Amino acid sequence: MAVADDLTGLYTEGLLDNLSTTVLLFDADHRLRYLNPAGEVMFAQSKRHACGKAISELFANAGWMIRQISSAMDSGQVINQRGCRLELMNGPTLIVNCTHTPVSLPGAMNGIMLELRKVDHHLRVDQEEQLIAQQEATHALLRGLAHEIKNPLGGLRGAAQLLEKEIPEGEFREYTRIIISEADRLQNLMDRMLGPNDVPNIQAVNIHNILERVRELVLVEAESGLTIQQDYDPSLPDLQADPDLLLQAILNIVRNAAQALDGNGEIILRTRVHRRFNIANRQYRLVASVEVIDNGPGIEASMQAKIFYPMITSRNDGTGLGLSIAQSLINRHHGLIECRSKPGETVFTILLPLEIEQ
Ligand SMILES: Nc1ncnc2c1ncn2[C@@H]1O[C@H](COP(=O)(O)OP(=O)(O)O)[C@@H](O)[C@H]1O
Ligand SMILES: [Mg+2]
Repeated sequence: MAVADDLTGLYTEGLLDNLSTTVLLFDADHRLRYLNPAGEVMFAQSKRHACGKAISELFANAGWMIRQISSAMDSGQVINQRGCRLELMNGPTLIVNCTHTPVSLPGAMNGIMLELRKVDHHLRVDQEEQLIAQQEATHALLRGLAHEIKNPLGGLRGAAQLLEKEIPEGEFREYTRIIISEADRLQNLMDRMLGPNDVPNIQAVNIHNILERVRELVLVEAESGLTIQQDYDPSLPDLQADPDLLLQAILNIVRNAAQALDGNGEIILRTRVHRRFNIANRQYRLVASVEVIDNGPGIEASMQAKIFYPMITSRNDGTGLGLSIAQSLINRHHGLIECRSKPGETVFTILLPLEIEQ
C-alpha cells in the first residue's frame, strides 16, 4: 500500500480534506486510493475501510463510471457529467454532478480524481419527464399567445412609424427606432411560433453579438444605477442556432435580473466553453454556457422549483411567461436553462450544445 500511504501524506493536510465536495482518487486499476472527509460522510465509511476497494465494490451501478474513467484516462481530458444516478453499495441512491480529472499519482501511475456534488432532485430542471411535460404545455400556450400578440403588434409598429415622421431628427428617434425594430423582431418571432412547421431558422450565430444586443436593450430600459459587465470567453466558437429565438430567451432572463435589481445593482454576462459535457443525459463534445448573474435579492426558496412553469410570477405586473418561454426556446436548440439562487447572487445558466454528441 505504498501508493496509498504516499497519497495520505500528500492529501491529508492538503486542500482536499477541507472541501465540502466529495473527492475520490482512483488508480489505473479502478481501485480507490483516497477519499476526503466529505466522501466519508457521503459513503458512510471511513477512509481506511474504503481505500483499496474496487469501484464495483463501492457502487452498485459502477459500469458507467468505469467507462467515464477509462475515457478520461485515455483522452487525458476532463469529463463533466451532470445528473448521474449513483447507487451506493448497501446505501442510498444519489443524484450527483461529477467531474473526472486525469491526474498523475506518485510512482508515475495514472489516476483519476473524481469530484461528486450532490444535486437537489427538486431543483433540477432537466429531469426529462418534467421537461417534456412542461415543454408540451408551454408550446400550446405559446401558440395561443402568439395569436393574441400579432394583431396589436401591427398597430404598435404603425403608430411608431407615424410618430417618427412627426418628430424632428434627434435623440427621440432612437426610441421610435427601438419600438419599430423590436416590433419587427416580435412579429418575426410570432410568425415563427405560428408557422406551419415551426422550424427554427438555424444559422451560424456569434453568441457575443447576441449578448451585446441584449445588453444594449436592457440598459436602455433600465435606470442609471444598473451596470452590465461582460465576462466573455473569446475562444467560444459560433453556435448553430436561430438568432431571434436565442436573443428572446436571453433577453427574458436578463430582463428578470434587471427587474430584480430594481434599477440598482450589477449583472454579469459570462460565457464559457465546457468540454465533454452532459445535457439531459446526452454527452456533447463542446457545450457553450452563458451565465446571467445578478447581485439582487435572490429567488425565494419556495419559488425556485416553480419558476420555469408558465404563469408563475412574484411581480404584480408579471405574466410568469418569461422563463417558460426562454426554457422552451433553449430546449428547441437541445439546450437547457438551470438556475441557482441565494440572496445577493442569482445565476441563470444557459447550456447550448456546440458540437454534436459523439
Ligand atoms: N434574477 C432574478 N432574481 C429574482 N427573482 C427572479 C429572477 N429571475 C426570475 N425571478 C423570479 O421568477 C419569476 C418568474 O419569472 P418570469 O417567468 O420571467 O415571469 P415574470 O417576469 O413575468 O414574473 C419572477 O416573477 C421572479 O419572482
Ligand atoms: Mg420575466
